[in-house]
Amino acid sequence: MSSVQTLTALQVMQDAPVIPVIVLTDVAHAVPMARALVAGGVRMLEVTLRTPQALACIEAIAREVPEAVVGAGTVRTQADAQAAAMAGARFAVSPGYSSAVGQACRDAGLALLPGVATGSEIMMAQEDGFTELKFFPAMQAGGPAMLKAWSGPFFDVKFCPTGGVTLQNAPDFLALSNVVCVGGSWLVPADVMAHGDWARVTQLARDTHTLKKA
Ligand code: 3PG
Repeated sequence: MSSVQTLTALQVMQDAPVIPVIVLTDVAHAVPMARALVAGGVRMLEVTLRTPQALACIEAIAREVPEAVVGAGTVRTQADAQAAAMAGARFAVSPGYSSAVGQACRDAGLALLPGVATGSEIMMAQEDGFTELKFFPAMQAGGPAMLKAWSGPFFDVKFCPTGGVTLQNAPDFLALSNVVCVGGSWLVPADVMAHGDWARVTQLARDTHTLKKA
């Protein structure tokens, strides 16, 4: 993994309009799911560390789907960051922010999108040098109006709103100058995955390209 180039958070955000938030409960689903998303033109994949299988899934995708760029979501501790990097993750997404997680991601060579929901959290992340942030949970914490309000005082911060974002409301976020991309779980619904309906995943991924930022 040492030969792999370190990504920046901005590169992670700029690759496509949507970063899929993925919950995997079966390692056998990881590779076909990743290939289905890549076939639909979505290659930055956030696999959440919420299931016992998550790290093995990241490992399988990193090994077998080189066209994908796999990252770890739900990174909450230094140990999570280290384990994600060991498994082959290239970036990390956290639901909140702590300096310990920020430093652990730096040490592990992981680009980090730290989660924030308040001005104080933005300031803490900025103090540690993070200026590309996840706004989470986006709809519950104020939606596009909140980001618009932040664009004044936090004019130098870019966001990836995640949480309650859908194909329908994503344009309201992507129209904002401080939003680079959005995150969402709708590309990989649990029932679609359970049925192995990979063509549907590819279609859901393709649909997100109508969302390109102006
Ligand atoms: C999460 O971490 O659960 C993400 O924010 C996904 O939220 P969503 O299911 O509302 O897209």
